[in-house]
Amino acid sequence: MIKVLFVCLGNICRSPTAHGVLERKLAMAGLSDVVDVDSAGTAAWHVGKQPDLRSQEAARKRDYDLSYIRARKAVAEDFLEFDYVLAMDDENLKNLKSIVPAELVGKIKAQPELFLASFSPPVLAADSLNKQSLTEVPDPYYGGEDGFEAVLNMVEDACDQLILDIRSKL
Ligand code: 4NP
Repeated sequence: MIKVLFVCLGNICRSPTAHGVLERKLAMAGLSDVVDVDSAGTAAWHVGKQPDLRSQEAARKRDYDLSYIRARKAVAEDFLEFDYVLAMDDENLKNLKSIVPAELVGKIKAQPELFLASFSPPVLAADSLNKQSLTEVPDPYYGGEDGFEAVLNMVEDACDQLILDIRSKL
């Protein structure tokens, strides 16, 4: 089993979106039985809640169901369990690194990495040379509907790249 964990701040917008998108793409690729997906937040504010209704609505329009996901906080033990630990932005990555106690550092399965920086499609990677901003999935929480669509666009593309990487390991 290959295990993937997406991490953002609240675990109600970006990481549950990636969670639901990857699960459906894996199902369509016939890979649900070999890959496990989860998501978590670096903050505990929304623990136990469903994804933000704006994220759910934007996802639903593209046929992704996020309603079964419940927010949880990322914990140090996640690093012992997951093969990919994928942060949505630089702050999430920094916060994740800070929760790994020194005694676990030598034992962790996966170094946390920036989802978009590691799994951008080639065309986006080339674009980022010009725009210099495509390594992070921007936080949509305080913005408008456009932000949620932008999250989905980025996450869908990066999930396709991630599936290619997963396939190369099977
Ligand atoms: P997320 O977005 O990290 O993508 O889930 C946020 C959700 C909630 C808050 C901030 C960002 N908040 O401040 O409550």
